[in-house]
Amino acid sequence: MSDILVTENITGDAMDQLRAEASVSFEPDLWSDPLQLKESIRGIKALVVRNQTQVTSELIEAAEDLKIIARAGAGLDNIDTDAATAAGIVVSFAPRANSISVAELAIGLMINLARRISAADQDTRTGGWNRQAFTGEELSGKTLGVVGLGRIGILTATRAKVFGMNIVAHDDYIDPGSVAVQALDTRLVKLDALLGDAYFLSCHVPLTNGTRGMFNGELFSKMKPSAFFINTSRGEVVEEHDLALALKNGVLAGAALDVRQTEPPDPSSPLNSIPNVILTPHIAAFTKEGQSRVVDAVCRDVAAVLEGGSAVNFFNFSEPRCAK
Ligand code: MLT
Repeated sequence: MSDILVTENITGDAMDQLRAEASVSFEPDLWSDPLQLKESIRGIKALVVRNQTQVTSELIEAAEDLKIIARAGAGLDNIDTDAATAAGIVVSFAPRANSISVAELAIGLMINLARRISAADQDTRTGGWNRQAFTGEELSGKTLGVVGLGRIGILTATRAKVFGMNIVAHDDYIDPGSVAVQALDTRLVKLDALLGDAYFLSCHVPLTNGTRGMFNGELFSKMKPSAFFINTSRGEVVEEHDLALALKNGVLAGAALDVRQTEPPDPSSPLNSIPNVILTPHIAAFTKEGQSRVVDAVCRDVAAVLEGGSAVNFFNFSEPRCAK
């Protein structure tokens, strides 16, 4: 029986070290088999997951010896944090470790949409040399609407400013007087105003009951027909069927999605056959640097808690509150 169960493909130097020094069961596909997962969790003291393992209240109930759930990433939407907290289990995560990586991909997707780099690449590989057909647009002077002005939204906006973009932002929770907003020198506006203004819209909201499905047909219809939509946050905030219709009907000019309503997505998704769409497989956080910081952070917290110490990057409390 191992102490630590890793249910997704979470690798790196810190994980190698943890595996060398502690008793780790490394099951990178276990996330996809909830019944087996419920069996395997018995006797486990630390569970290490990314975003695919659904850490439900039922799983937590079965995990009688669990002291810490470590989420290798920022989003906690796959973890029932209320159930974990009620059970006295530490929830640790890495909220800042991959933010730069995500912001850089958002900017990369924006440039790709504006300059049609992926489409030009495919055309050139198949013998084309169509320079005029791939005339693009500059980011400079265009308005970027950032929906969700948390860490990643701010980093994306900061980078976009360097390209000469104008920034408008919408966030229901941020204090307009906060240092971050002041330093960014951006206009905080209501969502409808942002939709009408934005030439590029980059989405950085967490998945909550309030944001699930918020990017739907009605919302897309309020955007400019020349606008591009970019999502590197959570797939479930977008109604993909509505997005596909908006793109087909010219309601929007293009979209880039790194995250999908279901992951992996349905291979027959209508988005696959729409040319002005860029699709990537939830790689925003996947850089050498980002992953190294993420894996370091969660492995350090797991080791500390199992040795009777405290987690550093905790969501609820730093030490287990249960007699385990
Ligand atoms: C995150 O929440 O940190 C990112 O979406 C990456 C991930 O889930 O692995």
